[in-house]
Amino acid sequence: MERRKDAFFAEMERQRDAVTFDEVLLKTGYSTIELPKISLVGRFSRNCPLKRPFVSAAMDTVTGYRMAIAMARLGGIGVIHRNMSPKKQAWHVARVKNHLNVRIADPPPVCVRDTATVEEVLNERRRKRYPFESFLVVDENGKLVGVITGQDFDFCVDKTRQVRTAMTPRSDLEVASPEISDDEAFEAMVRMKKKRLPLENEDGTVAGLFVFSDLVRARSGTNMHNTDERGNLRVAAAIGVGDGVLEHVELLLNERVDVVVVDTAHGDSERVLKAVRRVKMEFPMLDVVAGNVSEGDSARRLIEDGRADGVKVGQGPGSICSTRTVTGTGCPQMTAIHQCELAVRDSGVPVCADGGISTPAHVTLALAAGAESVMMGRMFAGTKETPGETLFRQGQRVKVYRGMGSRSAMRDSRASRERYSQSDKFAPEGVEAVVPYQGSVSEVVGNLEGWLRSSLGYVGASSIPELHEKADFRRISSEGRKESDPHDVTVTPEAVSSAAMDLSDDEAFDDEGFLDENDAADWYQ
Ligand code: IMP
Repeated sequence: MERRKDAFFAEMERQRDAVTFDEVLLKTGYSTIELPKISLVGRFSRNCPLKRPFVSAAMDTVTGYRMAIAMARLGGIGVIHRNMSPKKQAWHVARVKNHLNVRIADPPPVCVRDTATVEEVLNERRRKRYPFESFLVVDENGKLVGVITGQDFDFCVDKTRQVRTAMTPRSDLEVASPEISDDEAFEAMVRMKKKRLPLENEDGTVAGLFVFSDLVRARSGTNMHNTDERGNLRVAAAIGVGDGVLEHVELLLNERVDVVVVDTAHGDSERVLKAVRRVKMEFPMLDVVAGNVSEGDSARRLIEDGRADGVKVGQGPGSICSTRTVTGTGCPQMTAIHQCELAVRDSGVPVCADGGISTPAHVTLALAAGAESVMMGRMFAGTKETPGETLFRQGQRVKVYRGMGSRSAMRDSRASRERYSQSDKFAPEGVEAVVPYQGSVSEVVGNLEGWLRSSLGYVGASSIPELHEKADFRRISSEGRKESDPHDVTVTPEAVSSAAMDLSDDEAFDDEGFLDENDAADWYQ
């Protein structure tokens, strides 16, 4: 199916030319659209929907479980990086999946035996890195006999005591039947001021558990959460192509990972195709995204030969990437996205545009070129949710952001070396950097969403599929680029300009012919 923008890119292809974000602008079009009603629904892979088309990069300075939780709560998805052991990565996945565990029933809550010692339970808790402190206590028949909480552990001075002597016994607990609904459980816990509500089968065995903090979390902003059919947040995880790939995926699947991403710098290679095929053969129900590629034929091979459920596009556009500089290969990102999307357009497999997003406009342009989601590293780097400490450099708060192919990442991790097909002697394809600390990622995503809505309004598109249909581009010169950015003024910080204009004097404001606040809002919808 032909689209408006195809002619633009075909013409360029004829001239063996290619463009990236800052070389084009989208044409505006007739619009009847109310910005809040625009749908930003996209897909990361064939079966993984997104409520907002944003994906955080599989980088060790971007996505651990904290970022993945935040991204899914904001309607997107995070890809947990792989510069750690598969076991540890599975633990990160579990943290995300358990974050909104409204009803802990399948898998059942972790229970401990009444005859175990407090010390044994504490050791087990540490060893398995459980992110919670309380446990249901059962007898030898699996029947509920009590609950032991963090407070019970704290006040139990003699840790050799048996759990049954330190717990709150069943007779002092409020319990409910498994038929209770989530809302009823919430109301009951509020009424009884109970932080936990165990669910008990008729024969006294454990059927499940509600935890109040989970219910509160799940009820706030629920309609934006990107959740699976069980109500848990969606999460993806990066994998490699080595021998242990199937065992690695199995560990992730045990924690109910939603998508795995075969994460390499060159996705159009036999070892990647082989890995994707093996994973799809062994786990046909699991969505596999593969990459990275930047040519149409490469994208087609990934889905036809590899049976990938998503294609990740981007070879060399990343902010911390030096691949193009040191290898002289790659393709400017707008052209790469379009080529790949065109090649897989009729397959039902979505394209994720990965890398090079340095302004909000780039997000819209990447989607308009054909992507259904946009993966970002730099945009989210430096936020509170990224792994790593906040540092001070020349009086400024900063966080580290480094390429997965940077010297330090390759030195620290075999996975990084494998991503770039390097052995012990490695040639870096990325740099290490620091970026300003930028608070919570929810602010970043909120701003990106606002600008994306505006862009769709200008184009006259009410959704991402409509943007795909209607998008058409003009190439711009460097003069056009200059005109696009603020120019011929000295831009002052917002606080300075607000203070200089006394906006409290409404009459003077009107007299000078300025728009009043409502008019200004209409202007920008
Ligand atoms: P950014 O959003 O422009 O910062 O780009 C992030 C993307 O760059 C990631 O999702 C990766 O695909 C890619 N990337 C990460 N580390 C490196 C590297 O060291 N060299 C080249 N590309 C990298």
